[in-house]
Amino acid sequence: MFDNAAMLVEKNVPLQPFNTFHIVAKAHALVRIHDESDVRALLADPKWAGKSKFVLGGGSNIVLTGNVKPLVLKVEVMGCRLVRETPKFFIVEAGAGENWHDFVRWTLEAGYPGLENMALIPGTVGASPVQNIGAYGVELQDRFDSLDAIDLQTGRLFTLNAAQCAFGYRDSVFKHASAPDAEAGHQALGLKHRALILRVRFALPKPWKAVLGYADIDKKMAEQGVSQPSAQQLFDWVCAIRRAKLPDPDVIGNVGSFFKNPTVTPEQCVDIIAREPKLVHYLLADGSFKLAAGWLIDACGWRGKSVGQAGVYDKQALVLVNRGSVDGSDAATGGEVMTLARAIQTSVYERFGIRLETEPDIL
Ligand code: EPU
Repeated sequence: MFDNAAMLVEKNVPLQPFNTFHIVAKAHALVRIHDESDVRALLADPKWAGKSKFVLGGGSNIVLTGNVKPLVLKVEVMGCRLVRETPKFFIVEAGAGENWHDFVRWTLEAGYPGLENMALIPGTVGASPVQNIGAYGVELQDRFDSLDAIDLQTGRLFTLNAAQCAFGYRDSVFKHASAPDAEAGHQALGLKHRALILRVRFALPKPWKAVLGYADIDKKMAEQGVSQPSAQQLFDWVCAIRRAKLPDPDVIGNVGSFFKNPTVTPEQCVDIIAREPKLVHYLLADGSFKLAAGWLIDACGWRGKSVGQAGVYDKQALVLVNRGSVDGSDAATGGEVMTLARAIQTSVYERFGIRLETEPDIL
């Protein structure tokens, strides 16, 4: 019996509205989490305590390849507030279930700028640290303060700072399962399927300073003759840039970039450029080079191609899309999406010798 009467386990729940690819699949069982007491109530019930669990945020970074057997915990923890102000930062907090873009807009309206370069990224606040989301020169880790999460095995509440989240490029401790680390001879800490993020706090620097230097933003500045944009202008530009080249998941199902931009050594980069002079590459601080996966896929001729109802977006080859409806049975299947993804990986490997890694979680 649950001691929280408001909590309900729903059975055979259609997940098409809860994943931004809008793939048709069902959760065998789903429970909505409004706060930590819902998790504790669940763990206190012997029927659910030991069952495997899957934490669902905005569904913007998952590919469903079938019905979901683990108990789905749909995070609906809400609320946005200023926690405190220090001489150098505004510390603001949002519930994990808040929509990311609405939260970014709220911070600007409330006078706490700093997240504007990450406007319009689909998903929830709770999913943002999992992926260490980023766009136009700012990554979540640059604005992160701390987060509260609950351990799904013990029900213990804990707080992590940035170092403890082990952020990397589209990576964090939440993407790795706990596993023995042979080299270190101990258990490497991973929190995949173990932690449910409840609230995230951001440190927004005072005074605010625009993050510029990204080609698309520079273009907007030149077009509009603005050399020192405000946070609101940057927000508007980022929204316009994203709307022009990325599909709106409410209209065309997608999960944003489907692959990570790969990193190569200077030698590999020189070798590829000798064969492919137009290769899009960026020098990183450690001397390695990041390549534009979208360019690699595009160069292999994939833009606009399809497998069944799964397709490669015609304005940005790094984005795979659902060419079927977002609310009907003719949607792309997870199988079609993955067949297309594997075919792209094979052709990029054959032409460039580079293995593209998928960005979303394949379930
Ligand atoms: N390009 C092509 N053809 C394509 C796609 C891209 O030639 O079909 C070229 C572009 O012309 C450009 C380069 O590739 O020279 C890079 O493209 P873009 O600026 O669109 O950025 P990206 O590297 O493809 C990354 C992030 C995006 C983020 C943008 C802007 C990853 C995996 N993706 O994309 O993040 O919005 O930069 O900062 O790092 C996401 O993660 O879901 C996401 C959308």
